[in-house]
Amino acid sequence: MKNNHNNYPHSVYSDFLSSGKLLEYLSSRFKPGTELHVICDSNTAKLCFPILKKHINEVYFLNFVAFYEGEKHKNLKTCQTIWSYLSEFGIRKDSLIINLGGGITSDIGGFCASIYLRGIPFINIPTSLMAMVDGSLGGKTGVDLDNLKNILGVINFPEAVFIDAEFLKTLPRREFHSGYNEMIKHGLIADAEYFVHLTDNAFENRISEAIRKSVEIKMNIISEDPFDKGLRRTLNFGHTIGHAIETAFLRFSDKSVLHGEAILLGMIAESYLSELHGILSKNDLDLIIEKLKQRLLKVNFDKNVIDEILQYIMYDKKHSSSQMNFTLLEAPGKAVVNQNVNKKDIRSSLEYVAWLTESNTK
Ligand SMILES: NC(=O)c1ccc[n+]([C@@H]2O[C@H](COP(=O)([O-])OP(=O)(O)OC[C@H]3O[C@@H](n4cnc5c(N)ncnc54)[C@H](O)[C@@H]3O)[C@@H](O)[C@H]2O)c1
Ligand SMILES: [Zn+2]
Repeated sequence: MKNNHNNYPHSVYSDFLSSGKLLEYLSSRFKPGTELHVICDSNTAKLCFPILKKHINEVYFLNFVAFYEGEKHKNLKTCQTIWSYLSEFGIRKDSLIINLGGGITSDIGGFCASIYLRGIPFINIPTSLMAMVDGSLGGKTGVDLDNLKNILGVINFPEAVFIDAEFLKTLPRREFHSGYNEMIKHGLIADAEYFVHLTDNAFENRISEAIRKSVEIKMNIISEDPFDKGLRRTLNFGHTIGHAIETAFLRFSDKSVLHGEAILLGMIAESYLSELHGILSKNDLDLIIEKLKQRLLKVNFDKNVIDEILQYIMYDKKHSSSQMNFTLLEAPGKAVVNQNVNKKDIRSSLEYVAWLTESNTK
C-alpha cells in the first residue's frame, strides 16, 4: 500500500518482502553493488538482519551497526557510537541509512541520520508491531535524557517505510501485545468499529490487514498536520498520562512497564477523565473499560507512584506550553484535542486505574 499523499509526509509500503517494493525503491536510487548501512539493536541484528540480507540477495552490500536493545540505551551515548560508525565508514549525504528494528531503533536511527552532516536520507523497516503501526511512521525521532523520555529530538521524515509482518514471527508475545494496544488507540480515536474488532480479537489471524488499517489512520492524521500543530494531537490520546506512567516505572527497570502497556493504562485514565470532563457518556465509558480491562496486567500503583506520575505530567505540560491540555474522547472513535483538565480530576483518574488494576488482576 502506498499512501495517497504524493510522497508527503512519506510513503508506506506493506508486505515488502513478497512485493519486491524495497528492491524496486533501492534500484531507483543506487547502482547494484552499492554499500548500504543498517542500524539495528542487538536483537534485530540477530533475528531480522539475516532476513533483510537474504531479501537483498547480494544486489547491495549491507553493513550494520548494532546497539544494545532497550530503553536505557536510547540516549546520546548510543548516538555517539553510531555517529562514529558513520564517520569511520565515510558516510556521505548521498548514502542511505536503513533503520531495522522497533520504535527505539527508528527513534535513534532517525535522529542520528537527521543530525549527521545536517541530515542524510533514511528509511525505516519496522520489526516490532509497535514500530509498524506507530514508531516508524510520522517523522518523530529522538532520544531520552536521564530518565526523561524523548526530550531530545527532531521531526524529520524517512524517505519511505517498508513493513512486513514476517518479522513479527520472532517478536516476543509481550512486545506484540504492547504494539496491539497502540492499534486499539487508533480505533478509539478514529474508528469505533475497528476498536471493537481489535478488542474482540477479530484480527488474530489477519494481522497484516489490521496493520494496514492502523497505518492508514495514523498517516491520514499526520498528513493533515505533519508538524504537530493541532490535529496530530489526537494521536496523543492515552499518552499524556501513559508517558508519565512509563517514566515513573522506568526507574524500576526498563521492562517493568512497556510503552504500549503504559499507554493502555493511560487510555483507561484518559477515558475516565473524558467522562469526568462531561464529554463522554457513562455508557460509552463502561463499554470502553469493559474492552480495555481484559488486557490489563498487574502493575503496582501505590500512592507514591501516583504522586510521582502527577509530577511527571506537570513537568511534561510545562514544557509543551499547552498547560493542562489533553486529548480526550467524545465517543469511541472520536477524539477531541485541547481539553483543559484540572489536577484533581487527573488524580481521580489515576486512583481509578489503581483500583481497576488491583481489582482486575487479583
Ligand atoms: N517516534 C514515534 O512516533 C514513536 C511512537 C511510538 C513509540 N515510540 C518509541 O518507541 C519505543 C517503543 O517501541 P518498541 O516497543 O518497538 O520498542 P523496541 O524498539 O525496544 O522493541 C521492543 C523489543 O522487541 C525487540 N524486537 C523488535 N523487533 C523484533 C523482532 N522482529 N523479533 C524479535 N525481537 C524484536 C527489540 O529488540 C526490543 O527488545 C519507545 O522508546 C517509544 O518512545 C516512538
Ligand atoms: Zn505510543
